[in-house]
Amino acid sequence: MVELKVIVGSTRPGRFSELLLPWVSAVIEKNAGFNLEIIDLREYQLPFFDAKVSPAYIENADYGHPEVNRFAKKISEADAVVMITPEYNHGYSGILKNAIDSVYREWNNKPLALVSYGSVGGARAVEQLRLVAIELQMAPIRNGVHIMAPWLLTETDGSLKDGVLDGYTASLEAQLKQLHWWAQALKTARSVN
Ligand SMILES: Cc1cc2nc3c(=O)[nH]c(=O)nc-3n(C[C@H](O)[C@H](O)[C@H](O)COP(=O)(O)O)c2cc1C
Repeated sequence: MVELKVIVGSTRPGRFSELLLPWVSAVIEKNAGFNLEIIDLREYQLPFFDAKVSPAYIENADYGHPEVNRFAKKISEADAVVMITPEYNHGYSGILKNAIDSVYREWNNKPLALVSYGSVGGARAVEQLRLVAIELQMAPIRNGVHIMAPWLLTETDGSLKDGVLDGYTASLEAQLKQLHWWAQALKTARSVN
């Protein structure tokens, strides 16, 4: 089984990211071969990054802060990571960047898939994240899930309109298939190195 961590990349009240979770979880659970855990950044009180030493130099998983260490432990368990990301000012969220920068080795040699949304499906945020992933020594996979104009997908009470994600299910399934392949390949590679 592949240990899959899905990181929720926005934390503001009324966030769209949260509305995707039931759908993402259902599609993942339908695809055998993943043990899913949601990592909601709201549930981690990560400090605004201020470490003396770059996390890249930390070898014992002790980042000097209990919440960072708790987050690091969760990422260390992952064989594959999905980041659900909004697009803020043509980039991804500051809260996600802060989480990314807070740890290092735990990301290494693991595949990364991106689920995004925005006026152009969050594509600009995704391209930036792919560049960052290289420095994390992750393998950002090709297939994306780009959800267009999320503000059109909700009812006035903030809930998701019925069926609006159905058209994206095939993209998510294809992404998960590719992610699973990379997760198994890199898991094997990590076990011999
Ligand atoms: C600070 C901020 C900047 C934004 N910039 C963009 C942008 O550059 N491109 C875009 O497509 N949407 C942009 N939006 C709209 C977001 O796509 C939309 O609000 C989305 O729901 C944000 O994700 P969230 O609800 O998970 O926080 C921006 C929203 C915020 C709050």
